[in-house]
Amino acid sequence: MSTSTHKSSSGEVQQAIMQGAITREYRADAQQVIQRLNSLRSTEIMSYLQYMQHQYMAVSLLSPAMKSEFQTHATQELDHANRLAERIQQLGGVPIYDPKEIAAKAANVGIAPEQGTTLTEMVVEDLMLERQQIEAYTTLIREIGDQDFVTRHMLIGILAETEKHANELADYLKRST
Ligand SMILES: [Fe+2]
Repeated sequence: MSTSTHKSSSGEVQQAIMQGAITREYRADAQQVIQRLNSLRSTEIMSYLQYMQHQYMAVSLLSPAMKSEFQTHATQELDHANRLAERIQQLGGVPIYDPKEIAAKAANVGIAPEQGTTLTEMVVEDLMLERQQIEAYTTLIREIGDQDFVTRHMLIGILAETEKHANELADYLKRST
């Protein structure tokens, strides 16, 4: 493989290969962004586990609508975790895959899967978790500002879905209590 062209020096090509999509116009601290994304991803994995648990426990005869709602949310939480992992990799990082480390990172921001004894308790737990995530995403989006547009765009997409979940859960609780 040739490492230089008539336009770029071999040093420039080497740097381009090392940095991929990161150019001098990238203004964020990639290492810091990677850490924050890994932290958010750990909360998405906890959210996935919590929704799946609620899905198992919401017996289909008792609440078929909520059972499928929990399932739908669980699938979307996993998708959020996957989108964060892809971005972590693109920025030169490694998505955390040690379950203990994932649990510790989520616990650091006060998140662990919970399973209440009633359907209402479970929905409240999900609402509280979604609201914590809304806060965390909003904070990071504001911090990133115009320093990393692609990460920002991805975070806004996840935030929109998270807000939708929170609204759905709050609407359910308004109707049922
Ligand atoms: Fe999520």
